[in-house]
This record gives sequence, C-alpha cells and structure tokens, in this order.
Amino acid sequence: MRECVETMQPSRPSSAGTDLSIAGVERPAVEFRNIDIAYGKFVAVRDFSLSIRKGSFVTLLGPSGCGKTTILRSIAGLVDISGGQIMIDGRRVDDVPIYKRNIGLVFQSYALFPHKSVFDNVAFGLKYHNVPKADIARKVGKALEMVRLPGSEKKLPSQLSGGQQ
Ligand SMILES: Nc1ncnc2c1ncn2[C@@H]1O[C@H](COP(=O)(O)OP(=O)(O)OP(=O)(O)O)[C@@H](O)[C@H]1O
Ligand SMILES: [Mg+2]
Repeated sequence: MRECVETMQPSRPSSAGTDLSIAGVERPAVEFRNIDIAYGKFVAVRDFSLSIRKGSFVTLLGPSGCGKTTILRSIAGLVDISGGQIMIDGRRVDDVPIYKRNIGLVFQSYALFPHKSVFDNVAFGLKYHNVPKADIARKVGKALEMVRLPGSEKKLPSQLSGGQQ
C-alpha cells in the first residue's frame, strides 16, 4: 500500500466487489464493510465500504482530510474502527492486533528511522520476521535496485533527496 495515491469510495459497497462475493466467483482480498472511524468525538470515516480483488491496484482519491489515510491506517491496525468490519482473505481482522496483521504500509510522511542506514531501514521488516541474513541482503539489494539506489546502503535518510527517501 502506498498512501499518497489513494482513491476514495465513500459510503457504498463497490458494486464489482459485491457482485463477485455474492456470485462466489472470487473472494475479495480486502473488504471494508460499513466501517466507521472516529478520533475522539470527531467522525473521520462514516459507513465506508469497498471490496478489493486480489492482485488489483487500487487508489483512494479524494479531497484533503476526507479520510484516505485513516482508512489505510485501519487496515494495518494503526487506528481502531468503531463500527463495521474489515476482512482480509475472508477473515475478520479488525480485532487482530497490529503485529499479527502482516500489512505493509508506506506512510505519507516516510517514517524512516533517521539513525538507521538505508540498508537497515529497508531490512527492518525482514529482520523483525527473522528472515535469514543472506536472504535479507539479497532482498534489500533487489529492492534498492528497483528504486535505483544501489550504492546507498550505508547512507542515512538525511543524506538522501526527498524522492530517494
Ligand atoms: N490523529 C487524529 N486526531 C484527530 N483528527 C484526526 C487525526 N488524524 C486525522 N484526523 C482528521 O480526520 C480526517 C481525515 O484525515 P486523513 O488523514 O484520513 O485525511 P486524508 O484524506 O488522508 O487527507 P490528505 O489528502 O490531506 O492526506 C481529517 O479531518 C483530519 O483532520
Ligand atoms: Mg492522507
């Protein structure tokens, strides 16, 4: 998920997703069912529904402050929903703790570890999951190649341009 590219679908279940699940052709990979999210008394998201098919690339698009980031944070478990359900692969996850959801999220502000190198920032999730060292090195190398940053492994985030970060 990347949060600065988001498409907003307020209030109604996506017709494609609903049709698919009713027909039993394909279970949505991610499904929001009438979710509500509040920050204290302020309701940021009300009755939001969306079905996302496996392998699809979905963006949420909408005016600033309409709730896109809040919705993405709710899949990862960074905010609690106050109503509705969130399903991943047909399993309800809204009461699953954040560390058990296994969701990757690229934050709108990058949330890099300023004191860790580029390598260690990229490797963080893999280390957390106890991936073997050699695999981590290979995967980090591949990821950095993908974003054209090989050779930057030892740099700190502050030594990268905004785009490189
Ligand atoms: N931690 C918070 N506490 C209180 N209100 C918040 C909090 N985070 C967001 N909000 C409010 O919730 C609403 C939705 O915020 P959100 O960050 O989801 O918007 P967004 O659609 O991602 O906006 P943008 O396009 O500017 O990134 C906004 O009105 C915002 O002010
Ligand atoms: Mg946002």
